[in-house]
Amino acid sequence: MAEQVSTTEPAKTETTSFIVCDNLVKIYKVAGLEVVALQGLDLVVQPGELMGIVGASGSGKSTLMNVLGGLDRPSAGRAWVNGKDLLKLSNAELNQYRRAEVGFVWQHGARNLIPYLNALENVKLPMTLAGKAGRAVRQHAEVLLEMVGLKERMKHRLSELSGGEQQRVAIAVALANDPKLLLADEPTGELDSTTALTIYEMFKKLNADLKVTTLIVSHDPSIARHVNRVVAIRDGKMATETVRAKTSGEVAAEHEEIFEELTVLDSAGRLQIPKEYLEMFGIKGRARLELTDEGILVLPTENIEHVRDAEALATQFVEARKAKGLSGLLNRVLHGDFRKRKE
Ligand SMILES: Nc1ncnc2c1ncn2[C@@H]1O[C@H](COP(=O)(O)OP(=O)(O)OP(=O)(O)O)[C@@H](O)[C@H]1O
Ligand SMILES: [Mg+2]
Repeated sequence: MAEQVSTTEPAKTETTSFIVCDNLVKIYKVAGLEVVALQGLDLVVQPGELMGIVGASGSGKSTLMNVLGGLDRPSAGRAWVNGKDLLKLSNAELNQYRRAEVGFVWQHGARNLIPYLNALENVKLPMTLAGKAGRAVRQHAEVLLEMVGLKERMKHRLSELSGGEQQRVAIAVALANDPKLLLADEPTGELDSTTALTIYEMFKKLNADLKVTTLIVSHDPSIARHVNRVVAIRDGKMATETVRAKTSGEVAAEHEEIFEELTVLDSAGRLQIPKEYLEMFGIKGRARLELTDEGILVLPTENIEHVRDAEALATQFVEARKAKGLSGLLNRVLHGDFRKRKE
């Protein structure tokens, strides 16, 4: 008997995965103009994953963070987080989702923290705003500050903390209401590389201890060393994915970690080929696919271009000389040449 498939139920990936974005589109309208920030983005994240997101400026990284965090509504497609369809939530439900289930860490310290409050007060604030009170709030804030290594600095104000320490307070603030999802948008953007390293290590430790699904946006491709996998966004779509390469039984030394960049296929089988590869082989507009024993080869359509150029040349020739016989011969030679090459 044929298997019955219900179209109203969420797909299996949506019930077992933590995040599922399917053909996600976000269009901003500014002064009558449309900016397509996400153009059919696909992404699946498993519960408890620690993931990096990289991409050029303007590629849509923050837009994706804002959509996943419930700060912005997608224009089309599907976005499921922790069993919730973000496109279908009412405004009140989306607010509740953002407050209860998501923690944000931003690039600028000022966006994360209140400058005139000390570290402890900053971490207590989201709990107070969520209606919690009493000793438990202070205790939880103290535990979080201890986890981020700031036990000795709880009473320090923002101005009395270094950039790295401020970001660690920001992480504690983001975790105050025990979110299921931690989103960090360039959390190390204003830090030197040594301090950035300590922040990445902090995310790694918290992800392991608290099992909170963590997405970190970065400009720095070396983030691959600190997370389980990195996806690259190009023009509002997932383009590549970097994973630790398998070492076929050999155990690589820690400093010898090998990474492999994989091109992402979307649900319709489309893939993005890096611009530099296309330029290298002069692939433009269309490409020819050839099946080989090893896989699929993407080739330039130079032969087709060659014939088109030749046809144009022949037409010009005919026009110029009005020599019909010669143009037919020229066409035959050129087309014959093409067929031979195609074989
Ligand atoms: N609120 C908005 N209104 C209009 N356009 C926007 C808005 N937010 C983002 N955009 C546009 O959407 C595109 C993606 O922007 P986004 O901020 O997501 O990029 P990004 O990858 O985070 O870049 P960066 O690395 O510079 O932070 C850009 O073209 C940007 O100009
Ligand atoms: Mg951004």
